[in-house]
Amino acid sequence: MTVLPIIIAPDPMLRKKATPVRTVDSEISQLMKDMLETMYRAPGIGLAATQVGVLKRVVVVDISKKEQLNEPICMANPEIVWSSKEEVTCEEGCLSLPEQYSEITRPDRIKLRYINENNEKVDREASGLLATCIQHELDHLQGILFIDHLSSLKRNIILRRLKKLKKLNAKS
Ligand code: NI
Repeated sequence: MTVLPIIIAPDPMLRKKATPVRTVDSEISQLMKDMLETMYRAPGIGLAATQVGVLKRVVVVDISKKEQLNEPICMANPEIVWSSKEEVTCEEGCLSLPEQYSEITRPDRIKLRYINENNEKVDREASGLLATCIQHELDHLQGILFIDHLSSLKRNIILRRLKKLKKLNAKS
């Protein structure tokens, strides 16, 4: 398995739309494994292929706690087929926006459909943190970041901080 470099915002790559995969073949399942490795190493609870520069509709998620066994979910072509009217507000962060956190409101429960690492169609429900995380990752596949759910004022503050951070890191 390979740890892939994660693209940090602001970067035009993060604004691009991913395209569906035809099938989960060995290339895509390898990408899923590498993305999991990258996510665990970061560490994070979700990663979209866009964040490692691959414009394919592939997402990995694992919200299990450190002291528990890993519970990875690998998704190709994920689609939200239903979302609840009830919403929940969670503090979100993103591996592409290091050290930035904001409260974001999203539907509390979702039903989704995807193809798993074994190329099988899966239908499942998610709620709470898992639902938030999946919606966040699916946004990435459309070129949407969690800061796009904020007012432009708040978004610009975060983007300015990220630009500064990037400059600092380039110097060191
Ligand atoms: Ni993210």
